[in-house]
Amino acid sequence: MKGVVLAGGLGTRMYPLTKITNKHLLPVYDKPMIYYPLQTLINAGIKDILIVTGGNYAGDFLRLLGNGHEFGLKHINYTYQEGEGGIAAALSLAEFFADKDKTCVILGDNVIEKNIRKAVETFDRQKAGAKIMIKEVPDPQRFGVPVLEGDKIVKIEEKPKAPKSPYAVTGIYLYDNTVFDIVKALRPSDRGELEITDVNNAYIERGQLTWEVLDGWWTDAGTFESLLRANQLVAESGANKMD
Ligand code: G1P
Repeated sequence: MKGVVLAGGLGTRMYPLTKITNKHLLPVYDKPMIYYPLQTLINAGIKDILIVTGGNYAGDFLRLLGNGHEFGLKHINYTYQEGEGGIAAALSLAEFFADKDKTCVILGDNVIEKNIRKAVETFDRQKAGAKIMIKEVPDPQRFGVPVLEGDKIVKIEEKPKAPKSPYAVTGIYLYDNTVFDIVKALRPSDRGELEITDVNNAYIERGQLTWEVLDGWWTDAGTFESLLRANQLVAESGANKMD
């Protein structure tokens, strides 16, 4: 399975912190933010990794990560997203890299406590489709929220005012290689972006979306509050150790 870290965007929600750097290079306790999703993929046994970045500071990723020797990798692939287009638009840049393989996509601001290796292995055996990881949160309205009927996700709503479940769809997605055709058929949302939630809803319509509840804590780090929380959680638990 291939791995993709999405680390583009302008991070305007976090001005002035992101005025002179990329959000994913900001510190989370003792490491730059992108170290955590990268380590999450590596801990799951994924070694063939693409980083999608963009904006004015893309070169800094190369200086920071190089070929990934610090992570025990031989090579890291990079690509550049021109302009802003949303998470699904960033993902479409991975089509050539993914080729016919399945892909584990992780958002560059998602930090988790535990290992996703089991979910990755289960998805490896899944014939086709996609798998998402969900997690109970106190503020689901900030995220994609699954609508559950029994143990079936019938729909995902992006940042709903009245969430229909207490879960967030985390930024860890497992896709087969038809995901790129799905992205091509998407239309921009009201905020002018190609939404990852629409990709997942397309898999639901095909009856091909499986899901699991993520083990251990999870947080994004894309707002001032969640960045603080990520720092605290990592400091307290020493998450995603590199050893
Ligand atoms: C994005 C997705 C959302 C998901 C979240 C996870 O939100 O759109 O569905 O729950 O990542 O971190 P954003 O970070 O763009 O607010």
